[in-house]
Amino acid sequence: MRIGDVDIGKGALLAPMEAVSDLPFRTLCEEHGAALTYTEFLSAQALTRGAARVTGRLWASLSGRPFAVQVFGREPGVMAEAARMAADIGAGVVDINMGCPARKVTAGLCGAALMREPDVAARIVAAVREALPARIPVTVKQRAGWDERSLNAADFARRMVAAGAALVAVHGRTRAQGFAGSVRLEAIAEVRRTLPASIPVVGNGDVKSVADYLDMKRATGCDAVMIGRAARGNPWLFRDILAVENGEPLPPEPSAGERWTVWRRHAALVAHYAAPKMMLHELRKTLAWYSRGLHGGAELRRRSFAEPEPSAVLGLGEAFFARLAERAASHGADLREPPVPLATKWLERHARRTGRPESGGPCEA
Ligand SMILES: Cc1cc2nc3c(=O)[nH]c(=O)nc-3n(C[C@H](O)[C@H](O)[C@H](O)COP(=O)(O)O)c2cc1C
Repeated sequence: MRIGDVDIGKGALLAPMEAVSDLPFRTLCEEHGAALTYTEFLSAQALTRGAARVTGRLWASLSGRPFAVQVFGREPGVMAEAARMAADIGAGVVDINMGCPARKVTAGLCGAALMREPDVAARIVAAVREALPARIPVTVKQRAGWDERSLNAADFARRMVAAGAALVAVHGRTRAQGFAGSVRLEAIAEVRRTLPASIPVVGNGDVKSVADYLDMKRATGCDAVMIGRAARGNPWLFRDILAVENGEPLPPEPSAGERWTVWRRHAALVAHYAAPKMMLHELRKTLAWYSRGLHGGAELRRRSFAEPEPSAVLGLGEAFFARLAERAASHGADLREPPVPLATKWLERHARRTGRPESGGPCEA
């Protein structure tokens, strides 16, 4: 697939996700076949002010593959300046966030709020387009609309393309839906029907498997699919989708040894790149992703949230994957554990949020 002059090949795209789509995560997804990865959204205001909190997250790519930097804001001039900064660090694509539903973003009339102001949104796209060299395409990530009463995805996308967008990604939910309810495949299909064939349309929302991927493509006619949450701890989804696109047989599930190697690589990148004060949190998070659903994973996560040292979390991960590999050798390939009871899930979430191991349960709240 091409975005303007940028050839990204086949495969699925990794979605921008705040506090998730960092350099280590994007690298792992690229290595497993993601056609394009996006950074988490970066505030154009904060970037251009030189806020270290945000400039420190303006990371390039380790692979040399094209990657997209996503920015959000509403002042065309500031967005243009932020886009130039993205180009300076080597962004192959600059993406504009027009889909974030979070109040902290929409209250400033940014993110999904721009879908209610297509004129402002178009001015932003035009300013960013003008600020960048022609070789760097400008893209837009939007939603199905603001709410039930304003399902304007197709009309909005048409305006963005007229202003200079070279690709439109659509998360098929309204801002009012947030992340709840079903994805409106029809909204994505309508965007595809409306835009010229030369402009790729990317479908997004709830794709968790190869079967979901094929359904999304079939139901919407989209040119590519973007995957977010399901990629956490599962970069193999990109490998599987690439195999399908290449007409190859579906690879087998990753073995215990492969999971061990990939977690270890991801953890090593985190240990190298994470800010020292975030290291413990990031290592626990990485381990939680790769152990989800696997035998002994719930117990591992409880223990890792009680460990105060990064090295101890790494040690727990090593021991976990060693046991998993032994289990695979003696019990065959079944590495999964039975579903975790809801109360246990709540306790885990509580521990993750507070950084403390569980005390009590939901009734305490
Ligand atoms: C933790 C998290 C952070 C996100 N951050 C961003 C973001 O920075 N920019 C953006 O456009 N979308 C963001 N999203 C939305 C995703 O890009 C994607 O549209 C959404 O999760 C639906 O895709 P999925 O079902 O494959 O996860 C975020 C989603 C999650 C779960």
